[in-house]
Amino acid sequence: MTDQPRRKDLLDIQSLSVDEVNGILDAAVPFKDLFKRSVKKVPTLKGKQVLTLFYEPSTRTKSSFEIAAKRLSADVTNFSVSTSSVVKGESVLDTIDTLQAMRTDYVIIRHQMSGVPEMIARHTDASVINAGDGYHAHPTQALLDAYTVRETFGEIAGRRILIVGDIKHSRVARSTSRILKMLGADVRVFGPGTLVPDDRPEWLQAFANWDAAFAWKPDAIYLLRVQRERQDDQFFPSVQEYHKFFGITAQRFARVRDEGIYIMHPGPVNRGVELVDAVMDYDRSLINQQVENGIATRMAVLYWLKPQSTPLPG
Ligand code: CP
Repeated sequence: MTDQPRRKDLLDIQSLSVDEVNGILDAAVPFKDLFKRSVKKVPTLKGKQVLTLFYEPSTRTKSSFEIAAKRLSADVTNFSVSTSSVVKGESVLDTIDTLQAMRTDYVIIRHQMSGVPEMIARHTDASVINAGDGYHAHPTQALLDAYTVRETFGEIAGRRILIVGDIKHSRVARSTSRILKMLGADVRVFGPGTLVPDDRPEWLQAFANWDAAFAWKPDAIYLLRVQRERQDDQFFPSVQEYHKFFGITAQRFARVRDEGIYIMHPGPVNRGVELVDAVMDYDRSLINQQVENGIATRMAVLYWLKPQSTPLPG
């Protein structure tokens, strides 16, 4: 990783090479090892200032970045949009100018509009990390998902991953399918016809029903959250109908268990919609592992964007 030219920003997955992706995933391994130590902190980003700027709600991504930055000894400021001058009409760029005057080294931004992180990256000298923008991209979710698949199966190449749900509105589906495909996985999708776009990449085949999807023998099923907040129309009759036709019901869960299929979900989970409660306690549910790996991969991203190379923790 240290031989690669430094990038200023992380905005999406398609801008990265396979070597860069593997470099970040490799760097996350020693960071995850740190979690077993009594002192989980290293001085890698001592003196650096990290700003988190979330215009949309977040539990996992925001707290995970904060923990990651603090474990690297950075100073973290969480900019609270709801109590800031944004509510008085201040624009994103004016907000960034103000915060730039405070000499921030990293800006971690989530925004409901696609493209805002890129616009900010063009406008500031700080490293900008996209923590999710509209339908467009969620690159650190993709990296933590790839890390989790690699950790679980040993390698990603040749694995069959089925992504289920709202493909149309999902930045997670867009970024995670792309990274897994880049690393050699076979990725396919299944969901309501209204939520599986026809203009998806040709390598992203779709199944018409669960029987066909199970017959393909997926190694893991990646359930997407039903995102009512991004659906400006009614794409399925009700969440009950969604569960019945597209969720992991008790009956489908029995098949998942019998066939030893792993379950992934980016969170937050809608219990009784994407899955029945019992899936949360399934020994092949990777959902909590994804959260833990989010910290290690975000530490690796912050490290990777750092101006000069620094030894990884030994
Ligand atoms: N996976 C994810 O982005 O979760 P949050 O919305 O809680 O950050």
